[in-house]
Amino acid sequence: MTLKLNQTVGELVVERPGRSRIFESFGIDYCCGGRKSLVEACAAKGIDPQTVIGILDAFDDRPADRQERSWSKVSFWELVDHIEHTHHQYLKRELPRLAFLVTKVARSHGEGHPHLVELQKVFETFKTGVELHIAKEEKILFPLVRQLSVAHELPHFPCGQIANPIRVIIAEHDEAGDAMKKMRDLTNGYLPPDDACGRYRAMLEGLKELERDMHEHVHKENSILFPAVVAAEDRLRALHGWPVGASIQTAQNGRGGQSDSEIVL
Ligand SMILES: [Fe+2]
Ligand SMILES: [Fe+2]
Repeated sequence: MTLKLNQTVGELVVERPGRSRIFESFGIDYCCGGRKSLVEACAAKGIDPQTVIGILDAFDDRPADRQERSWSKVSFWELVDHIEHTHHQYLKRELPRLAFLVTKVARSHGEGHPHLVELQKVFETFKTGVELHIAKEEKILFPLVRQLSVAHELPHFPCGQIANPIRVIIAEHDEAGDAMKKMRDLTNGYLPPDDACGRYRAMLEGLKELERDMHEHVHKENSILFPAVVAAEDRLRALHGWPVGASIQTAQNGRGGQSDSEIVL
């Protein structure tokens, strides 16, 4: 496969999901930052894009492994089921466990290491935001997605077009992404100090895995599910001769049209 430098990193992972592991290893954000081209993403990290392309090419020459399911080829009903059963269940199980660890570590070691107290504050805000976020997806957005996936006529949504709540959800992904970057910085890339106790190491391992899972989760929503859902709604709108092409870009990428402050999720 010929890789194009102007393809976005999100598109590259949609084409071949296993490439996410290579982007993770370079610290390249392919979920919230997935709208950047490969060149832009490499420039932001000070990496030579040809180095990344060489590794991606070598990876692409290998046969796809069985874990590497292409989520862009399933119905979006199946995709939201998968997101709920895999990533949302993981968060519901893992966030309380990590909250316990982060709090204990901040109490035990925070006096000599004030960054651990800061980490606890950032994590608590992240946890509250993400718990509310997945509840909104499960109770509000995903039921609309399921409704749309079986509709032959354009459904009437109280939120207007489905792109409206999706913009709010993407903006929340950006906020969660910022918090994860802060946690990575505060922990020196989740690197344990030499004298770290077992609980401290378990906390860092858990936070690192949380970041990896969140990247995969947000990629599936931002780069696969949401564009497919908006395209499906557009097809039904076109049948009525109504305008299509609503933007799902968020404020960080130049918000188009309606103010999201008017949308209550
Ligand atoms: Fe989600
Ligand atoms: Fe989400």
